[in-house]
Amino acid sequence: MPKTNTLKLVVLLTCLIPFVLLVLATFELAGQSLGANPVEKLIHELGIWGLRFLLITLAITPLRKLGGPIWLLKLRRMFGLFSFFYILMHFLSYAILDQSLNWPMILEDILKRPYITLGMLALILLTPLAITSTNGWMRRLGKNWKKLHRLIYPIAILGVWHFFWQVKLDTTEALVYALILMTLLGYRVLTSRRIADYWRRRNH
Ligand code: HEM
Repeated sequence: MPKTNTLKLVVLLTCLIPFVLLVLATFELAGQSLGANPVEKLIHELGIWGLRFLLITLAITPLRKLGGPIWLLKLRRMFGLFSFFYILMHFLSYAILDQSLNWPMILEDILKRPYITLGMLALILLTPLAITSTNGWMRRLGKNWKKLHRLIYPIAILGVWHFFWQVKLDTTEALVYALILMTLLGYRVLTSRRIADYWRRRNH
């Protein structure tokens, strides 16, 4: 097993690569560029990475249960926090670069455009999970910590739905993310204790 701190550092630096590349592209450094629609590209890339990290976070437990190495579990919190980080940056680039921090307009967008409503709801629900991800909060909340962090499932559904709803033409990419999420949720349901108990009772 790799040393925990080295592993965490390597994963942390790897998770930062998309962000560093986007910063370089924003300032047109090191041959990176955001192309003809820089604000749109930035919002899109940050949103996609936020969703990817969200799905990676959800995949840790199934991977571990299917025989993956135990150290995977040590990375779950980091992946979850990176998801929050990228989604927050996604929101901030929308609010600052696209809407010039015009709060009445942002509020109108949130209320009137259903895909933005879903995204905002997902971010609002994700925030307490990020805040309470520390060991201190885990201790303080006890059993309720697990209950609170189950919100990750509806959040992921809202995130994929938000992605799906904003697609204008080709839904293939959004469909792939929806399929991955359905597989992860399906696995979760099938391996839940209640379902296992039901089958055990039926077979006896
Ligand atoms: C869990 C929360 C969220 C996730 C996972 C998420 C993810 C995504 C994804 C994957 C895309 C599509 C990117 C692409 O097509 O390449 C997207 C687009 C977008 N999202 Fe989010 N998002 C979230 C929250 C938000 C919030 C809070 C806002 C703003 C209030 C927002 C505003 C937008 C906008 C404006 C677009 C681009 C739509 C367009 O170009 O027409 N998102 N988001």
